[in-house]
Amino acid sequence: MNRFSVIAKRKNSKKGDSGMQETILKMYGIQKRFSGVHALNDVQFELRAGEVHALMGENGAGKSTLIKVLCGIYKRDAGTVELFGKEVEFSNIAESQAAGISVIHQELNMMNDLTVAQNIFVGREPKIGPFVDDQKMIEDSRALFEKIGIHIDPTVKLGELTVGKQQMVEIAKAVSRDCRLLVLDEPTAALTQTEVEELFKIMNEMRDKGIGMIYISHRMDEINRISDRVTVMRDGTYVGTVNTAEVTKEDIVKMMVGRVIMGEQKEQSTVAEDAPVVLEVKNLRAGREVKDVSFTLRKGEILGFAGLMGAGRTEVARALYGADPKQGGEIYIHGKKVKIKKPLHAVKSGICYLSEDRKRYGLMLDKSVSDNTVIASVDDFITAGLINDGKIRKLSAEFNAKLRTKTPSMEQLLKNLSGGNQQKVIIARWLMKNADIFIFDEPTRGIDVGAKSEIYHLMEDLAAQGKSIIMISSELAEVLRMSDRVMVMCEGRKTGELDISEATQENIMHYATLREEM
Ligand SMILES: Nc1ncnc2c1ncn2[C@@H]1O[C@H](COP(=O)(O)OP(=O)(O)OP(=O)(O)O)[C@@H](O)[C@H]1O
Ligand SMILES: [Mg+2]
Repeated sequence: MNRFSVIAKRKNSKKGDSGMQETILKMYGIQKRFSGVHALNDVQFELRAGEVHALMGENGAGKSTLIKVLCGIYKRDAGTVELFGKEVEFSNIAESQAAGISVIHQELNMMNDLTVAQNIFVGREPKIGPFVDDQKMIEDSRALFEKIGIHIDPTVKLGELTVGKQQMVEIAKAVSRDCRLLVLDEPTAALTQTEVEELFKIMNEMRDKGIGMIYISHRMDEINRISDRVTVMRDGTYVGTVNTAEVTKEDIVKMMVGRVIMGEQKEQSTVAEDAPVVLEVKNLRAGREVKDVSFTLRKGEILGFAGLMGAGRTEVARALYGADPKQGGEIYIHGKKVKIKKPLHAVKSGICYLSEDRKRYGLMLDKSVSDNTVIASVDDFITAGLINDGKIRKLSAEFNAKLRTKTPSMEQLLKNLSGGNQQKVIIARWLMKNADIFIFDEPTRGIDVGAKSEIYHLMEDLAAQGKSIIMISSELAEVLRMSDRVMVMCEGRKTGELDISEATQENIMHYATLREEM
């Protein structure tokens, strides 16, 4: 198998003899229980100065909880934390910050109505006398962004930025505090490829300064590129710690789930020869991103939308679904021309869209897992004005069981689930919805490897039942494994279309980078 050593060598030569670096954090014997859940059971973790240490494990393994114990959000039930050689127990974030710990949490908790600059300096605003010095705050933010090479206007309201940009602001904020230990809990889930590169550059600079970093991510290729060591957790317990350079991807996955999961490429389309076209999109134009896109989708087909981040795939889906206005184009469903001006029209036409931006849309944190699952399907279960409550609850339990959503009960509040498990609930919501055409936008982002294959099976089941699926995915392996046909986009245009039997990583990448001649 392809070892990680080549990359690791490059990494090592850059940072010198990291093996000699001192250990700055030691956690051992850590215990944490919530009612009904043993979230951490005898967990240990160590971090060296100038090291990027990846923390991995399936959704609900206890990663975020361990971080919250470290930074004082949760009080541990038992165990020891030693920071810079001294035993510590923080009772809030302010205390851990003062001790040099900075955390970028999985759930962004920033204030959308404040400006970018205000968010960065909240609680430590520069003052002139009793007043906040707005001008200085803006200038300092500009200088900070310049230093770390990101392009964001500090005077705009945070809520106006994409989730990816908001994440970069959070990263800048953490960097601006003089921290010696930085935790990044799934920072890249919402970032574009370019933003990920920017982040890695910042992380490498911090590494050179001797800052220790704990990095949580489900993306194997990132772990491979950026981390020195990997610690794996499973079901709240410690599995082991390895040097990234000495193991393969498969080794890590095996530590995480106790088995190896391999996804192979689909060899040929499984769509019936005579399957009718259920959706035809002709010359769709929308915003600046979607330029004259046409395609068809057949009954029982999985059509993969491939392309680089920002190629316009989500924009096609949003315009089709009526979430964004169209400038032109026609849509036919079962051969009949339809007008889709808003999402409600799409739903009535039998189209359902699972947004890539699940964090921003659709989570009802203070409601139960069950309520969150059934919300979109309630209408499908009304007969003669009566809601068949028992049936939808049973179905919602079934779907969450299939996706292995980790929750003590269906009545648990959504906010108490781990980040990835919250996403599974939203996916269950759309999978149980009665629609003909499903658009899944990055369905497995933020989801651990084990649950990924469950989502694949559910999608295959839907297709086998005669449902049609458009799957937007930035993971080529996923596109090749799931699709019957692949449509490739670049800069808002459709640049290629391939039957799965002829699709390869190489020809997809060729079309994905086929820019228009100027
Ligand atoms: N405040 C809470 N109340 C009850 N249960 C909780 C609470 N916080 C976390 N849990 C439970 O503890 C377990 C570990 O959750 P945690 O958020 O640490 O997982 P994670 O490894 O970060 O997963 P993900 O990859 O999905 O983010 C889960 O079963 C979760 O439901
Ligand atoms: Mg988490």
